[in-house]
Amino acid sequence: MYECDLKAMHADKWIFGYGSLIWNPGFNYIKKYPAVIQGWVRRFWQGSTDHRGVPEAPGRVVTLELQEHGVCWGMAYKVASADVENVINSLNIREQGGYSLKKLKLLKSVKSKNGVIGMIYIGKPDNPNYLGPEKSEKIAEQVINARGASGPNAQYVYRLADALRNIGAEDPHVFEIERMVKDIEKA
Ligand code: SIN
Repeated sequence: MYECDLKAMHADKWIFGYGSLIWNPGFNYIKKYPAVIQGWVRRFWQGSTDHRGVPEAPGRVVTLELQEHGVCWGMAYKVASADVENVINSLNIREQGGYSLKKLKLLKSVKSKNGVIGMIYIGKPDNPNYLGPEKSEKIAEQVINARGASGPNAQYVYRLADALRNIGAEDPHVFEIERMVKDIEKA
């Protein structure tokens, strides 16, 4: 038992990114590949009062919502055991605006039976920055008007949509918000 615990403590770990962590992990990893989690969908339901907004005008960033048969594609990163503590400490600071860590199974495809367990940052409905569901038009308007320490909220939407296209992932919610934000910008 004791040996098992020691092994777990000193093992490489997987981290799954489904938002900014797809295009900007900002940490060392051994390898990465596109991965999918099942039973969850990505939604612009998390408020951002630091990276992509301010407390007076929060931006909208993504979190995960439970949904039967839902799928969410993102990026799985393998982090060397020696780096795990530093990586988690720095991500805990970066994701401190309401995200907490959860463990979920990461699959290479929706048909895979076996996967690896990965750590994921989720903005749960009980966190203080959670905004919840809203009409897509309203989300797009909020995005256009928000900007934070990491830049404009619209840039987050565009980078996320591009990152998903780069891995061949479908996400109607993200692509709809991207289209609406672009339409408002053009108008
Ligand atoms: C993630 O990327 O996995 C978490 C949400 C974000 O930082 O955009």
